[in-house]
This record gives sequence, structure tokens and C-alpha cells, in this order.
Amino acid sequence: NWSHFTNYHPHDKGVKDMDGQVAKERIDFLRETLEKLSEEYYELDTPSVSDAEYDRYMQELISLEEQFPEYQTDDSPSVRVGGKALDSFQKVAHQTAMLSLGNAFDEGDIRDFDRKVRADTEEVTYVCELKIDGLAISLRYEDGKLLVGATRGDGEVGEDITNNLKTIHTIPLRLKEPISFEVRGEAYMPKASFEALNAERAAKEEMLFANPRNAAAGSLRQLDPKVAASRNLSYFVYGLTGTTLTSHSEALDYLEELGFMTNPNRRVCRNIEEVLAYIEEWQGKRGELPYEIDGIVVKVDSFSLQEKLGSTAKSPRWAIAYKFPAEEVTTKLIDIELSVGRTGVITPTAILEPVRVAGTVVKRASLHNEDLIRKQGIMLGDTIVLKKAGDIIPQVVSVLTKHRTGEEKEFHMPTTCIECGSHLVRLEEEVALRCVNPSCPAQIREELIHFASRNAMNIEGLGERVIAQLFAEKLISTVVDLYDLKLDQLLHLERFGEKSATNLIQAIEKSKQNSLEKVLFGLGIRHIGAKAARTLAQHFGTMEALEQATEEELTNIDEIGSKMADSVVKFFAQEEVQTLIASLKNHGLHMEYKGPQVVKESESVFFGKTIVLTGKLTQLTRSEAKKEIEARGGKVTGSVSKSTDIVIAGEAAGSKLTKAEELGITVWNEEQLVVELGE
Ligand code: IVH
Repeated sequence: NWSHFTNYHPHDKGVKDMDGQVAKERIDFLRETLEKLSEEYYELDTPSVSDAEYDRYMQELISLEEQFPEYQTDDSPSVRVGGKALDSFQKVAHQTAMLSLGNAFDEGDIRDFDRKVRADTEEVTYVCELKIDGLAISLRYEDGKLLVGATRGDGEVGEDITNNLKTIHTIPLRLKEPISFEVRGEAYMPKASFEALNAERAAKEEMLFANPRNAAAGSLRQLDPKVAASRNLSYFVYGLTGTTLTSHSEALDYLEELGFMTNPNRRVCRNIEEVLAYIEEWQGKRGELPYEIDGIVVKVDSFSLQEKLGSTAKSPRWAIAYKFPAEEVTTKLIDIELSVGRTGVITPTAILEPVRVAGTVVKRASLHNEDLIRKQGIMLGDTIVLKKAGDIIPQVVSVLTKHRTGEEKEFHMPTTCIECGSHLVRLEEEVALRCVNPSCPAQIREELIHFASRNAMNIEGLGERVIAQLFAEKLISTVVDLYDLKLDQLLHLERFGEKSATNLIQAIEKSKQNSLEKVLFGLGIRHIGAKAARTLAQHFGTMEALEQATEEELTNIDEIGSKMADSVVKFFAQEEVQTLIASLKNHGLHMEYKGPQVVKESESVFFGKTIVLTGKLTQLTRSEAKKEIEARGGKVTGSVSKSTDIVIAGEAAGSKLTKAEELGITVWNEEQLVVELGE
């Protein structure tokens, strides 16, 4: 019962005239109180005071620590709110390598594992645990104090993200015994926090996180610990290094006594049948958990047997990860919606009866093109099976023809553009249908969206919805019009207030200072991705110089091929383009190269990772993507194997994506790639 804490009146004695001794006592009291309250709230789920009361204690502690800096410590609960931002993350070598686990996909794989484990022992006890879908984190404690917390990195060397980890309430800053060791566990974002975060981001038109794992990783990769502090992350410990205990199950109990949060759903199993029953049970119940799991980890309990079995270079022989199959659900295809892209390509999208799959509600799935619709035999009104490829991209798996009622209708692509009515064409060697009318309003709107997007002019507050609104209100019809927008025009619009309107005008104004490559990419020259735009900006320095460039000059640049050169020359030869550029210049756009953007290798998520690119990328070419990844310390390879870390799946990705899913490898879409490259 902690109620006596609440009877204390902190301001009985004015903080100002408090002497050092009294302050020290009060600080100690506040720290102890906050630690207890935090444990009640975050670990025991039995808060005894209101959030506001907790915040008052915290504020009082922070202000006392500010006044008496001599009493500041780095394990005070006040570090949980997140201190100063860093310039970069340091590298840390792990005391022992952070291995990963071998994968099992079915009962046979689990039985094989058991057979190998029992090669020269009859009886084995296993511990089964949930495989939490977050990111592996190592924590080093010295004399019971949290010293360093790091990401896995390449397994040998990770990144020091201690400041961010200290904001996680379920990571103890001080242990109940003064011991020195390293523990391993999983940092994760609970489902509810993930959904609240995405709802908040949607309201601000910010990019949504694809799943809780990405959201957790993104939060912990921020240099400013206040971001992590605001994200409600949590941590389950699942192992430790260097101990005199004799089994994993004892080790977990001990970690719990020390003050860590272990996952309560672990189970000691005396044989493989019990292990299989545990897997089956949790495969069915995973949806009930407040956090995402992607499988079950099976570990040999005895440390001496673990040691005897040893490890390969990548993973221990005493443990295995059973990966759940990608969740598949059935839903109804209500309609097929068509959209016209920036380059005129018509893309069909399935409009689905909303259905929850792999952590989020899905309402739409790309159907790519008519050929694929035919091949899958999809009809309007069909009941379909849906999954998320690589747990991210919604995909129609198959049609359940036995559910047909006869009411289903065949789908045909139109012959004319849905927006401007001009005749659609199928270019040679392409499956896509295109609208080739350069003044098609849909294309213009998409061009505007592209111009304002992150890798282009990066105009904050000017997302798809706002552009569509401005376009529909006829306030903008070319990118130049953006720079003519006036505050009072915005104030007349729905959903615009004084503040949002002022912010938008300021963001547009600020974009005038952008370096040349941003403008170039924003103009959407065919075959010129974000990387090529940077190369051109670097080489020519100004828009004028680039406008004068000949095809020969262009192809002489490393990285610029003849297709790109041809496209650039043709682009600038157009009279409308000349007018557009002159007009942008008149509006005060700089269009000069501002120097290289420095990317620190070790700060990058790509550092030490093996990456495979597959499918069609639209924002940058494959070779650009490869160079960018390599510049950040990643390796790009051609085929998917167990040692692949990330597969980047563009449009209509095929067998490599399937393989990645089978192997349980992280899959990103192009959007995520671009975001990570831009960070
Ligand atoms: S044990 C020596 N236990 O799954 C390997 N891992 O490759 C130690 N994970 O990224 C891993 N829940 O972070 C273990 N209960 C659990 C886990 C777990 C999630 C993650 C781990 C690693 C991956 C396995």
C-alpha cells in the first residue's frame, strides 16, 4: 500500500529555500516512490495513483534535480522522460555475439530438431516461449546498474541506444542485486500503442508504420530520446550471459527476481509432444495477446546440454524458432477501383470488406494489372483469400470459387481513361495500360503529390488529401500555383484553421531553399530517380547548367546511362518545361546544389545487413537502390537465402518474395525503403 506517499505535501516547504540535505532526502524519496509506482503501473498493471499524480512526482523530481545537479544520477527515474538528443549513435561490441535462431515451419522441422538434440541423450526438457515480434536488444549491467543498451547490429557490433532504452519502464535502471552481466531480450510496441500511434499519424497525414515491429524499431532509432519516451514501448527479457545457474527456466525466474519483465506465457515441456501442443495452442491464441508474436521459440532447458550442443556461426543448436505461417483470412471483393498514376499507368485496386489480418485492418489490395486479375480468375463479388506478403503488403492469394452464387461479375479494364476520357494504350512489352494525355487531371494531381513528397520538395502538411482538396477547389493546377497560394485562400477551405494554413504557407515558402536535386526529382523526369537527381545536381550545380547539357555530356557521367540522358535532354527541350522552370525561378525557387548529404554508415538500419531487391521499383532504379544501401554499409545480393536480412519487394514481386516469406525474412515495400534511405 503506497497511499502514505500521497499524503506528503511536496510544497509544504518551499523548494527554493530547501537546503541540500533536505533536497537529497526528498530526491531519494521521490525516486523510490516513482520506481514503485512505475512497477505497479507497467509491470503489475495495478496502479494505485492517477497518471496526473505520477506526473506531479516526476515533475518535482526533475525540478529538484535541476536545482541540485550534484544529486543527479543516470539511473534516476527522471531519465525515463528522455533527456538530450544525440548527434549520432556509437557502436558497441557485444560481450558475446548475439546469434539468431534457426527456423522451423512445420511439425517435421520440430521433430528433426528434437531428434538432433537427443542424439546422445534420451531425456530432454524444453522451455517454450512466445517469439515476440520486436527487435533484439542487449543490456549490459555493471554492479547492478544499467550501463549500455544496444541493438543487435550484425550480431558482433550493435548501436548504443541506451538513452532511448532508458525511457522504457520495463527495463530496470538498477537491479535488486549489484551484479554484472549482459541480458538479451525483445523490445516491442504493444498493439494498442501501435494503433493509437498510427491513428495519430494518420490525423497528421504522416506516413503510417506497417506493423508494431517497424514502429518499435523506428522509435528506438531516433536520436532524440523524447520520441522513444512518447511511444510506450516495452521489453521482455529472454536470456542472460555468464551465470552459475544450471537451467534456462531458473535463469528466467532469477531475472524476474532481479526486476526484469519476463514473458509469463513460457512453459517447461518434458517432451516434444508437449512442445507441439504448446505451439498449436498459441497459434490459435495469438490474436488474444496485447502484443504481436510471430512464432514460438523452443529452447533446451539445461545449460550443460546447451553447452554440449554448442552453436554454428549463426545460431545455437539448442534452440529453434517455429514461425507461424502468414495469416490468411477470407473476405469479399466488393469492387475494383481504378486509379491513374503520375506516369499515366492505370492500376486496379481491390476494394474489400474490411478485415483484420496480421495486425491491421485491410480494406484494399493492389491487383497490379488486368493480366493478373485474369490469371487468378477474380470476379467482382468473389470471396477471396487474403494475406499480407511479408506481413506487410496485402495480397489476394486465391478465389474461393465454391462460394460463388452466380451473382459475381466479370471485370474488364476500360478502354478510355477514367479521368480524362482519352484512349488508353498498352505500350510495347508492358502489361500496364496507360493514359498518354499529358493534361489528364489525374496525372497532374499525382505529379503535384509527387512534387510535395518527402524525397522531392518535402513540403510538410501537403499530403495527398490536401493536394486533392486544393486541386478540386481549383486553387492549384501546376506546381507553380503552390507558390502563389495565399493564406486567406486556405482559410476559406474546410479543415483549415489559422494555424494549419499558416504552417502550410510557411512550409511551401521554406521549400524554395531546397537543394537542386529535390526540385529535379520533384519534376518527375522519366527514369530519373532520387539518386540520379542527386548525381545530376552534384555534377551540374545549377538548373541552367543542366538545361544546357548535351546527351554526350550526360552519358559521360558515371551512373547516367543513355536512357536517362535521352530522357533528360528530351525533358528540357520541351517548351512547357522551359516556361515552368522560368516561372518557378520567378517565384524564388533556388535550384542550386547545396552540397552532399552526409550519411553516417553506422547510423543506418542497413549497416551490416544483407539485402535482396525484387520486383519493380518506381521511385528509384534497382542500381540506385543498391548504391544507396551500399553507401550505408549494407550488402545487396541477388538471391534470397537464410542469411538475407531484408527483402525489398517492389511491384509484382514474385518468387523471391515467396521465398522470403517461407524463410520468415523481413520484407519491406519500396515506400519503406525510401523512408529509411531518407532518414
Ligand atoms: S532467443 C541465441 N527468445 O527472435 C538466440 N529470441 O532469431 C537468442 N525473439 O531477433 C534468441 N522472442 O530477438 C529468443 N523468446 C525469445 C524471443 C526471441 C523474440 C527474437 C530475437 C531474435 C529472433 C531470433
